[in-house]
Amino acid sequence: MTAPPFTTRQLEKGDYDQIVRIIDKWWGGPTSALAHPLFFYELGELARVVVHEGALVGFLFGFIAPAGPTGYVHLVGIDPEFRRRNVGTRLYASFEEACRLAGCSRLKAITTLANDGSVHFHEALGWTAEEHGDYAGPGRARLVFTKAIAADASEGRR
Ligand SMILES: CC(C)(COP(=O)(O)OP(=O)(O)OC[C@H]1O[C@@H](n2cnc3c(N)ncnc32)[C@H](O)[C@@H]1OP(=O)(O)O)[C@@H](O)C(=O)NCCC(=O)NCCS
Repeated sequence: MTAPPFTTRQLEKGDYDQIVRIIDKWWGGPTSALAHPLFFYELGELARVVVHEGALVGFLFGFIAPAGPTGYVHLVGIDPEFRRRNVGTRLYASFEEACRLAGCSRLKAITTLANDGSVHFHEALGWTAEEHGDYAGPGRARLVFTKAIAADASEGRR
């Protein structure tokens, strides 16, 4: 029997409402402040969710920063029951494609030094990690992930 599909689509208000309720559980600690409404209302055009059998199993808040322009992944979370099933890969692929079509040449994200899962995930997807000692202020080091992406080749032919 074929496994039920995973669907990737734009993040909607009902998804946002659910994310703020479950995010602390999915991340294993207080994280809901990072899901600021700004990332849905003002910067949510490229935000994505993955749905499986009607249930939200992963989300990505991301937007295009003007410098570059750069596709910036602000926050990602996958239901712990659905990790290592390519849900994060789907979200990143969808976001990367939207950024590429919008003319971005690079992607960026950050995480704390202790987040080994995030490091392995980004490296598996072809991102590069670099440690910045004072990135988030004195004594607040961060890993900065970047990935170069090819511009949309069809642009020049239009
Ligand atoms: C990090 C996270 C987003 C990964 O999502 P995911 O859906 O489990 O990732 P995928 O299944 O798409 O993984 C793709 C590849 O990344 C690597 N990878 C992902 N998570 C990993 C982990 N915890 N340890 C080692 N490698 C990992 C693997 O190579 C994996 O391929 P494989 O399963 O075939 O070996 C998810 O674990 C999560 O939500 N973590 C908590 C929140 C968080 O840290 N967010 C990111 C902060 S920047």
